[in-house]
Amino acid sequence: MSERFSVMKVLYRSVLKPVLFRLTTPDTAHDIFVAVGEFAGKYAILRALVSFFYEYKGKNISKVVDGITYRTPILLSAGFDSNGRLTRILRSMSFGGEEIGSTTAKLCEGNPLPRMTRLVRNKSIVVYKGLRNDGVDALIRRLKQTPRIPEYVIGVSIARTNSKEVNKTIEAGIADYVETFKKLNEANIGDYYTINISCPNSFGGETFIDPTLFPRLMAELSKVKCTKPLYIKMPINIPWNDFKQLLETADTYGVQGVIIGNLNKNYKDLDHPEDAPAQFRGGLSGKPCFTLSNELIKKTRAKYGKRLTIIGVGGILTPEDALEKFKAGADLIQMISGMIFGDPGMMKAICERYAEWKSHAVSQ
Ligand SMILES: Cc1cc2nc3c(=O)[nH]c(=O)nc-3n(C[C@H](O)[C@H](O)[C@H](O)COP(=O)(O)O)c2cc1C
Repeated sequence: MSERFSVMKVLYRSVLKPVLFRLTTPDTAHDIFVAVGEFAGKYAILRALVSFFYEYKGKNISKVVDGITYRTPILLSAGFDSNGRLTRILRSMSFGGEEIGSTTAKLCEGNPLPRMTRLVRNKSIVVYKGLRNDGVDALIRRLKQTPRIPEYVIGVSIARTNSKEVNKTIEAGIADYVETFKKLNEANIGDYYTINISCPNSFGGETFIDPTLFPRLMAELSKVKCTKPLYIKMPINIPWNDFKQLLETADTYGVQGVIIGNLNKNYKDLDHPEDAPAQFRGGLSGKPCFTLSNELIKKTRAKYGKRLTIIGVGGILTPEDALEKFKAGADLIQMISGMIFGDPGMMKAICERYAEWKSHAVSQ
């Protein structure tokens, strides 16, 4: 690890982060990060400065997955850059790509504040965003106007609009997903698409994690002629039997893979459950997702071999955690909480550890 990198890490962890955590709510801190990141992404000099500290420039660790080349196998997970404002800066922080969204057919204001609560001792965030985003039309406009950064993959996560009116019936919910998918596909925005069926805090709940309803959604989505990889964002709190049925349906309809997985709804999985809001107020990110996601990745890999791509996400807080996800069977990994509870150099540290592990594995 270079000296400049260590100095920044100490400065960030011992000065900037404690101040940020003390003075800002997570919602404000997130808004600040997105505004600063979007600004920095516009200027080559600022991107170069961020790269100087945080971009991985070691041995080649690129990976081709479903025909797409990832410069590094780490992506920013869906929900942090919901409106696609950070596409020009994240490569400088060692991300090989990101999943924008989840985006929806109609604009969503999201749930009332607070939409995020930090549970610092638990290394977790209570997420109650409720799919707050500008809507797919605005996203398409923005991404068309934003020049792409080379060797940086953009996936787009698609969810059902969080509104009572849109979701009066199952058919209306399906039509809402299909509308967004079609629009993105026709506008040729995004390198891959994800169907998010597992948002735990939007109106109507997770309708399509029901194995009897999921085939109806897939039947309609599969009518859209799309040549890009399609993934399903899986829930992590359902019994293996139901999970397996969802996988079977996904496979039957020819999706390329699954993202395992979304937030944990079980507050008992916290190290300190007494820190959580008394009433359920959104899913948990971070540490409480780690083991659940790893177990499901292992089982999915064992059942499907290389037939399904697996993107592993949930509770990656250290480079060793990242390796565990790969060892469990993930082809790529995604993260959010590890960047928040760690520091902006976390992704570079993961790349370095991954490169070391890979070269060790090859030499054996
Ligand atoms: C603030 C926040 C918002 C999120 N919003 C979404 C979303 O819109 N769509 C989605 O598929 N997942 C969403 N998630 C879940 C993450 O993509 C990820 O699955 C989860 O946080 C576990 O990863 P982590 O432990 O690295 O944070 C969100 C997570 C956070 C922290």
